[in-house]
Amino acid sequence: EAFDVVVVGSCMTDLVSQAPRLPKAGETIHGHKFFIGFGGKGANQCIQAARMGAKTAMVCKVGKDFFGENYIQNFKDNGVSTDFVGQTADSATGAASIIVNDAGENAIVIVAGANLLLGGEDLRRALPALSSAKVLVCQLEISPDTSLQALRQAHENNVKTIFNPAPAIPDLDPDFYRASDVFCCNESEAELLTGAAVASIEDAGQAGQELLRRGCSSVIITLGSRGCVVLSAQEPSSPSHHVPTKPVTTVDTTGAGDSFIGALAFYMAHFPTMSLEEMARRANQVAGVSVQTIGTQTSYPSKKDLPTDLF
Ligand code: RIB
Ligand code: NA
Repeated sequence: EAFDVVVVGSCMTDLVSQAPRLPKAGETIHGHKFFIGFGGKGANQCIQAARMGAKTAMVCKVGKDFFGENYIQNFKDNGVSTDFVGQTADSATGAASIIVNDAGENAIVIVAGANLLLGGEDLRRALPALSSAKVLVCQLEISPDTSLQALRQAHENNVKTIFNPAPAIPDLDPDFYRASDVFCCNESEAELLTGAAVASIEDAGQAGQELLRRGCSSVIITLGSRGCVVLSAQEPSSPSHHVPTKPVTTVDTTGAGDSFIGALAFYMAHFPTMSLEEMARRANQVAGVSVQTIGTQTSYPSKKDLPTDLF
């Protein structure tokens, strides 16, 4: 039985403090709420795809510890296959310290831990699932070599690939572009990768053109409340398409980009002939739901919570 969406990526335990603002260096401030949640960009994207109704598998590594055990249960609770979830005694489950301010903005430090031990051997075991999936999704919270190897394997097997270069690294291996059917990043990642400021929708279109020139089939740059821009190599002469979003009341934007990508993966798997712009429009709406409640995965909607016209 083939999977709709396979994610090769990270799991993190999110340790979240809500405070009026982000502290300055050397400063202690009072926050008003603390909670622990399931996070990590890879797992977040996988969970969102699963909640939309995709048949999903996660390829990842957690520690042989309390957080790792809990994370495996979380995948099971969400119907994600754990056949390729490894546990290691050599490192702790990844952790993310997150501070969310009253504007819903965040600052995050990740300690990837066990995520960095996901490697070639794990990919070999997952290869049958990876090479027969409809869509593969990768990010950069595991070793970049592992992500690139997974993307290449999928690409060679005609599996559609989504690559989310997050958190961005300045000297990204050029092969990442060539192995990406959809290269999807946010404005700050686009800035770091292209070296040009991305302040406006126009800037985003230009950054997108540059990323397209590097060899990916299509590019999406997400712009928070301003939606996203979509570009395709099939229509290189046409300008980028801006896909706006409806305004919502923002409580916590943490993981909104992951909600978008998880939803996008679902659409690519279930509606392969739908235009990328339409998929992006719908994924914007899904991510728009996630920003209206606190937390990452806790705020991700399921199919039953969403308008039927999104399916
Ligand atoms: O993208 C949001 C995620 O980034 C959080 O869940 C945190 O774990 C970090 O990886
Ligand atoms: Na949220």
